[in-house]
Amino acid sequence: MFRLVAKRSFSSTSTNLRKVAVLGAAGGIGQPLSLLLKLNPRVTDLRLYDLKGATGVAADLSHIPTNSVVNGYTPENDGLSTALKDAELVVIPAGVPRKPGMSRDDLFSINAGIVRDLATAAANNCPNASILVISNPVNSTVPVVAQTFRKLGVYNPRKLFGVTTLDSVRASRFISELQNTDPTKEFVSIIGGHSGITIIPLLSQTKYSEEITPEQRDALVNRIQFGGDEVVKAKNGAGSATLSMAYAGSRFANSVMAGLDGESDVVEAAFVESPLFKDEGIEFFASQITLGKDGVERIGELGPLNEYEKGLLEVCKETLKKNIKKGEDFINNA
Ligand code: NAI
Repeated sequence: MFRLVAKRSFSSTSTNLRKVAVLGAAGGIGQPLSLLLKLNPRVTDLRLYDLKGATGVAADLSHIPTNSVVNGYTPENDGLSTALKDAELVVIPAGVPRKPGMSRDDLFSINAGIVRDLATAAANNCPNASILVISNPVNSTVPVVAQTFRKLGVYNPRKLFGVTTLDSVRASRFISELQNTDPTKEFVSIIGGHSGITIIPLLSQTKYSEEITPEQRDALVNRIQFGGDEVVKAKNGAGSATLSMAYAGSRFANSVMAGLDGESDVVEAAFVESPLFKDEGIEFFASQITLGKDGVERIGELGPLNEYEKGLLEVCKETLKKNIKKGEDFINNA
């Protein structure tokens, strides 16, 4: 009996061949994220790329007896192209992380160029892949990828995602600490972008909207918006969130693959090209999206916002517009 079940589950996973490339795979996020992807039965071919160290990480992971092959690549011998060839999912945590006192925007000058070069290689080797951008500042690096793909004539807005899952993850955890509840059962809709004041948790849409006092609300919103700073401070110069981010990135990657596999009702928040505020010049916006066989299937309505949240949204939009323009200008003015 056991044998039969084991056999069945093997054959059902092996029908959905999933080639996944992680770019920046030897880094703080890249390593645990690659481990989690090695454990994911949807992944059958895992390619790890980094400037250095990816072959070692791949050799290490390759001993884990899950149903995927894993290979590591470095720039030598055209490693980037080989890692990306016909990949269906490309996850990008390559770049530098924050140090204490830095904002995500401070990373732009270095990370924008890294993301542009990786996006160019992805456009040339796997133009139909879903691209998951983790490298910060996400509000600007996603437009960098979009413009790069546009320039090369392969942009598909349904397959480009800024990974904001960590904000949702933190919100579930933090609200459960306040309410003394099971964090796995908590959900907070997060909209806007992925940095400080652009992160808007819609607490009025949770079941606690009546009981949370204005003081608790302000503290909770602030903690969700600046939760990353807690980690940057605690790591004291050794980087930003890596393990919780790996968990969040792995969850989001799994959801994108579940959508590609045709599962229904797969919903996550992500920073994507969105019609919600396009008429105000904001091309990308994070909200709950439904993931399907072709990537983004549906971008849901935001639902009712209270006056406080409407205020947060106005502030967010101003910053977001500038962040998006910065990313687009980086490519357009090159
Ligand atoms: P890290 O410095 O530990 O790792 C980055 C890796 O990228 C390094 O191994 C480095 O060699 C590699 N890399 C640099 N340039 C590359 C290139 N051109 N091609 C391939 N690999 C390259 O940094 P960590 O902590 O892993 O963070 C990575 C990025 O993720 C940062 O930009 C950070 O701000 C961002 N991040 C995003 C979050 C989100 O919620 N979206 C949360 C936390 C961090």
